[in-house]
Amino acid sequence: MEKIIIFDTTLRDGEQAVGGSLNVKEKLEIARALVSLGVNVIEAGFPITSKGDFEAVKAIGEGIKDATVCGLARAAEKDVDRAWEALKCAHDPRIHVFVPASDIQMHYQMNKTPEEVLEVAKAAVGHAKKFISDIEFSPMDATRADKQFLYRLIEAVIEAGATTINIPDTVGYAVPTEFAELIGDIRKYVPNIDKAVISVHCHNDLGMGVANSLAALRGGARQIECTVNGIGERAGNASLEEIVMALKVRKDKFAEFETTINTEQIYPVSRLVSELTGFAIPSNKAIVGANAFSHQSGIHQDGVIKMPATFEVIDPKDVGIPSSNLVMGKLSGRHAFKERLSELGYSLSETDFESVFTAFKAIADRKKEVEDRDIESLIAEYQRNLNNEYKLERIQVSCGDRGIPTASIVLTYPDGTSHAEATIGEGPIDAVYKAINKLVDVPNTLTEFSVNSLTHGIDAMGSVLIRIESDGIVFTGRGADVDIIVASAKAYLNALNRLVASRKTIDEER
Ligand code: KIV
Ligand code: ZN
Repeated sequence: MEKIIIFDTTLRDGEQAVGGSLNVKEKLEIARALVSLGVNVIEAGFPITSKGDFEAVKAIGEGIKDATVCGLARAAEKDVDRAWEALKCAHDPRIHVFVPASDIQMHYQMNKTPEEVLEVAKAAVGHAKKFISDIEFSPMDATRADKQFLYRLIEAVIEAGATTINIPDTVGYAVPTEFAELIGDIRKYVPNIDKAVISVHCHNDLGMGVANSLAALRGGARQIECTVNGIGERAGNASLEEIVMALKVRKDKFAEFETTINTEQIYPVSRLVSELTGFAIPSNKAIVGANAFSHQSGIHQDGVIKMPATFEVIDPKDVGIPSSNLVMGKLSGRHAFKERLSELGYSLSETDFESVFTAFKAIADRKKEVEDRDIESLIAEYQRNLNNEYKLERIQVSCGDRGIPTASIVLTYPDGTSHAEATIGEGPIDAVYKAINKLVDVPNTLTEFSVNSLTHGIDAMGSVLIRIESDGIVFTGRGADVDIIVASAKAYLNALNRLVASRKTIDEER
């Protein structure tokens, strides 16, 4: 069997695409989840780009033992130095150096000739080699690069010390047959290629990220770069869960390949990434979308009841989706609730359990059936609230087509005291946000606001996602409640808390 190295770049390419919205603690939480999923390499960030990225790469490198932790660097000494600074105490570090390799990118991005780029790349890899033996090199936009130049560039960086050669389809331009052929040609025409592992990194601009990654295995690639839920620049990266499940479900076609991924962790990790990045999973997303295992047509439903394999090629349990035959409601007691939590993969301390159980009872009083998504969101809400310094104590809103929208808000401040404000607004949410702004006075601009229902039915919980921007930094906030105005208040407060916490860190560093 040939082991396929799963290189996860959710925390780098993925996070880059959601506006750098994760803090160090959240990145570490995702990194730990990736280890439980069984990934082999975690690209934790791009250390030179910000203090936050530097700290995240450092914390993950030092906190994670069971995976290689990688930091990205442009082909420049200062980038490599910063990446090494972040990784020097890591258990199993890797530096990933990249350089534009297509004519268009070398010219417009670097304003350099191919020969100059080759020298810069060699020098950067040689510099990294002074610190570390595990070096990955990426010729960016490789699928649009001149092939002869690409072979020379790869040969030169392997000579300088690169041990993994990653072939990025940076703009998602390749089609599977040609991509497999490119990998095969690299193996054929780069004389020292046997000294390195070939990796691929495919974007999804034409919807072929996963297909290209799988095709590349046929050409000889043995590492695949991917992200949870397929998040990443523009249309995203090849999705980890789709690649892994394709290899597993179509074992007949990929018999010689294996991964170390524990597929039952796919669903919980997917939910965690969506929750923390604020990047919603489309309901028709393969493997992890809400509709991936739901059947609408009567013919399909009938078939699945008689024999699931009639219309399902994947057993939902294989990706960690719990079987949902237990409906929770207001009559469900502590024991049943605890059982359901453990089936959903949660293990809470007694204190946490009691608080979440109280929240569950409150929801169950207002909603006939409490579904798994409701329970997951209760727990997420509870965890968010633990980290919030400003907490929502009470909220009262009046609105309608005759009245003036008015909101009264009571917040608990970090020192435990309660403070109240009331304001009018253009609408109920405007009034709520204005009242909160009077209490937590941090200038910001609301850049995104969306409400989704978590489950079906008129009594479904509403989940609100917002993003606010302050001094060029984006902060995500989420809130869930059966009342969408309350959920909106919680989401705004969550984003403000993150903004305040980040200001505090910046002030402490000064
Ligand atoms: O898409 C890309 O080319 C990248 C590189 C940095 C590997 O993300
Ligand atoms: Zn990329």
